[in-house]
Amino acid sequence: MNRQVEVLADVNAIVARSLALILERAHQAIAERGQFTIALAGGSTPKPLYEAIAQQPLPWEQVHVFWGDERYVPPTHSDSNEGMARRAWLDHVPMPATNIHPMPTQAADPAIAAQQYDQELRDVFQVQPGEFPALDVVLLGMGDDGHTASLFPHTDALAVRDRLITVGNKDGQPRLTFTAPFINHARSVFFLVAGANKQTALAHVFSETANDEDYPARMIRPQGELWWLLDEAAGVKQGV
Ligand code: 6PG
Repeated sequence: MNRQVEVLADVNAIVARSLALILERAHQAIAERGQFTIALAGGSTPKPLYEAIAQQPLPWEQVHVFWGDERYVPPTHSDSNEGMARRAWLDHVPMPATNIHPMPTQAADPAIAAQQYDQELRDVFQVQPGEFPALDVVLLGMGDDGHTASLFPHTDALAVRDRLITVGNKDGQPRLTFTAPFINHARSVFFLVAGANKQTALAHVFSETANDEDYPARMIRPQGELWWLLDEAAGVKQGV
């Protein structure tokens, strides 16, 4: 694992730095493989990044967008990660609808929806059961409890090793989420973390002694690049 940790002045600096790094990787992926695949994080931190990406002159027909997790609500719901990314980015660029792969949230049983998305990814990437496709970029946030995607502390999702997608659980509310092994197959993983309220969890994530069940972001140890882009409020005193 190639881990880079950067403490930047503020969220704007995180957006500028992550945008530059993502664009580099997008152009490289398109040059080498003819397409760029990215999984989006939800929550609030990445929204300005999505707004910035929308301003870039990328070959949108060669960009494919997935979600690393989703609240189990319709895309019209204010909590929807899909809705946020469409309003901030995807509604503003000429990306073919077939390039946009939202997590399905219509099935009555979230476990069925997880299987549907797992199969959709296998079809898109042409991988067999037991194989994990490598996305070019996976964007992640981290909650103040150390969760990432919808891999919450002490939940069943943390133990799922044989699938791409599983059902997460936030205080009894179902989520859909990438599994840790799927995230770890990405070429580049970017954590965007801002705010003093993340300091304590970050210290445990970076420590030698904490355990993954308590701080699931520790489970993200990709074979490729791992970037932690922190603002000063989150990153100060981390000694990183
Ligand atoms: C979600 C996210 C989640 C998020 C963290 C941080 O669906 O909420 O994917 O993992 O990244 O909770 O959220 P903030 O960026 O809002 O602090």
